[in-house]
Amino acid sequence: MNKLCVLGLLVSLASQSVVADTNAGNTAAATLQGKNAFINNLIKQMTLDEKIGQLRLISIGPEMPQPKILKEIAAGRIGGTFNSVVRGENRPLQDAAVAQSRLKIPMFFAYDVIHGHRTIFPIPLGMAASWDMDAITKTGRISAIEASADSVDMTFAPMVDISRDARWGRSSEGFGEDTYLVSRIADTMTHAFQGKDLAAHDSIMAVVKHFALYGAVEGGRDYNSVDMSPMRMYQDYLPPYHASIKAGAGGVMIALNSINGVPATANTWLLQDLLRKDWGFKGVTVSDHGAIKELIDHGVAKDFRQAAKLAIKAGVDLSMNDSAYGNELPGLVKDGEVSVAEIDSAVREVLGAKWDMGLFADPYRRIGIASQDPADTYAENRLHRAEARDVARKTLVLLSNKNQTLPLKKQGTIAVIGSLAKSKLDMLGSWSARGVANQSVTVYDGLANAVGDKARLVYARGANISDDPEILNYLNFIEREVEVDPRSADEMIAEAVKVAQQADVIIAVVGESRGMSHESASRTSLNLPGRQQDLVKALKATGKPVVLVLMNGRPLTLGQELAESDAMLETWFPGTEGGNAVADVLFGDYNPSGKLAVSFPRSIGQLPVYYNHLNTGRPVTPGKPGNYTSHYYEEPNGPLFPFGYGLSYTQFDVSDITLSAKDLTRTGRLTASVKVKNTGKVAGATVVQLYLHDVTASVSQPVKQLRNFEKITLQPGEEKVVSFALSEEDLKFYNQAMKFGAEPGEFEVMIGLDSETLKKASFNLL
Ligand code: NOJ
Repeated sequence: MNKLCVLGLLVSLASQSVVADTNAGNTAAATLQGKNAFINNLIKQMTLDEKIGQLRLISIGPEMPQPKILKEIAAGRIGGTFNSVVRGENRPLQDAAVAQSRLKIPMFFAYDVIHGHRTIFPIPLGMAASWDMDAITKTGRISAIEASADSVDMTFAPMVDISRDARWGRSSEGFGEDTYLVSRIADTMTHAFQGKDLAAHDSIMAVVKHFALYGAVEGGRDYNSVDMSPMRMYQDYLPPYHASIKAGAGGVMIALNSINGVPATANTWLLQDLLRKDWGFKGVTVSDHGAIKELIDHGVAKDFRQAAKLAIKAGVDLSMNDSAYGNELPGLVKDGEVSVAEIDSAVREVLGAKWDMGLFADPYRRIGIASQDPADTYAENRLHRAEARDVARKTLVLLSNKNQTLPLKKQGTIAVIGSLAKSKLDMLGSWSARGVANQSVTVYDGLANAVGDKARLVYARGANISDDPEILNYLNFIEREVEVDPRSADEMIAEAVKVAQQADVIIAVVGESRGMSHESASRTSLNLPGRQQDLVKALKATGKPVVLVLMNGRPLTLGQELAESDAMLETWFPGTEGGNAVADVLFGDYNPSGKLAVSFPRSIGQLPVYYNHLNTGRPVTPGKPGNYTSHYYEEPNGPLFPFGYGLSYTQFDVSDITLSAKDLTRTGRLTASVKVKNTGKVAGATVVQLYLHDVTASVSQPVKQLRNFEKITLQPGEEKVVSFALSEEDLKFYNQAMKFGAEPGEFEVMIGLDSETLKKASFNLL
């Protein structure tokens, strides 16, 4: 046994003695009562400084170098850290807490494990396009297994902010525009992270974020304000957070934005009335990075002291990386402006989270012993490549395929064009945790693997992602390593054309760099950035078939590209195995089945574009805009590619809808069924989607709303009946008095393979 290992054992015993001393009893039989008694007892023993220490969540960095942090932990002045995620890094921090601090309260270690930890899966917007809850469970479980093996106890995920404005760079991090789909994923991801037992060594606590409404920032500009009617909040934006909480999320991260004028971080209605009282949330709340001090910039606090007071009174338990709590709460308590009971209630939640993560029973549960640390934390055998490839294939969306250009044959010469085609870093997308660029498979590599001979590929960079020095500066700040070719754009395009002319087919990998779809990465254009539009045009002019492989973390406006290409495959940022997954689809080794979780607008002027909008009093008749109807001069109202859309290499036929009855009673059920047939020549999967519309209600209802779906796989010629059971629950909405209920009358039920091409039937709710 080495020294650290002995120490580990001792401190583990020491912490267990806290458990014994306070009669918490055997953790295996950890009842709620036992937990509460243990925590209350511990709180009684804590000084005010120790209590405030527990409320501080600190990132190790220049302001808090390791020696300083060790001292602070030993003094009981830090509750947890984030961003240090190697067992060897976190072990000394835990040692300082459980061996040196007076009460031996363990630390916890958090991290942004958003779409994978070491193995990186597609970005969340891509994962949502799989509409496959088993695949999504797999990503969450593997993330938890890999992160917990690196000593991570808690993740700041799932991010379930509904987003209907593609200008917002964080669209990439969420699961799209639809309340029902995002809620299903919120539930799935929370269960996947936390496993069957949150205290297990391979489970991590889910902290759902960003509570609330962060995806609705005005103008899609990150951190901007949110102004929203209560009906829209409750109907569309709040359910995903609630779904994660109902699934048992241990934590909630509070959004940086204000809501109708009151910053979420100081919002008593949000954090107490809604979260605790109405929803019964029993876990810990965490501020976002520096959000408490930002109350000063929001203009609701005049200084740090007032900011700390507002936050603690509103219900912010953990303060992420600012000094407001540490510096100001002691004085506020001393002067009677904040009560000890208010501090205690926040401390109770932090200690409760530590209990739930199993840390009082064993502070080293996810740190393990030094002798078993991986010799190489980046070792290849720590990755889950097969799973990453399998999931990534399911997230790719075939947007267009003229004259069955795809799948390609593995023969002839292929021109691979675009800087993204060879960018290992961009494959990972933003928030790529401990994913390593060197371990990712680019599209170029994936194609080479598939054709088995690099000589069959010819390559040209074609264009930089941007040539604008200001954008590049900003991207460098976010991504740190943006590659730029110093040649002129014209020179690069000319070279790409020359290369393309030698080939039988062109695969152009175009889109955004990962830093363009990230935090603080909003855009006022949704076109391909830089000179990539010119590149596509020039490639098309060669007369060769052009396949566009798109990489982006938000919907782009692709009208021009649709016209100037023969096929388009949306690949998002597909992760560690992305290149192989893309090649699988391009060559038909996997038949694409992804469906958009977000509408793709025709132009930025249409925003916001989302499928479940209300009708107006003057709806436009498609094809006949007419005067004095609700329309634009330049283009139709609808998106270029609708929510739920995605092609396959086979064709599916959907029958008319059969209803089991014409009327639905309040306690009854009604079944809506369709027959789906694979009428093509290859096997394929598709997503059968069910939408509902309340025709006449006391409050105008969306033209359609997703209420269920089923992903099915059919062999050529195979037919399957897909049935959905409907009950009163599916028909409820918030009325003017904010009562949630269903009103009698006619409902339309629509079933199809995207949100626009739908079969329709109707029934009555009695
Ligand atoms: C700020 C981001 O808004 C949040 O999502 C993230 O979890 C924290 N930084 C910590 O990295």
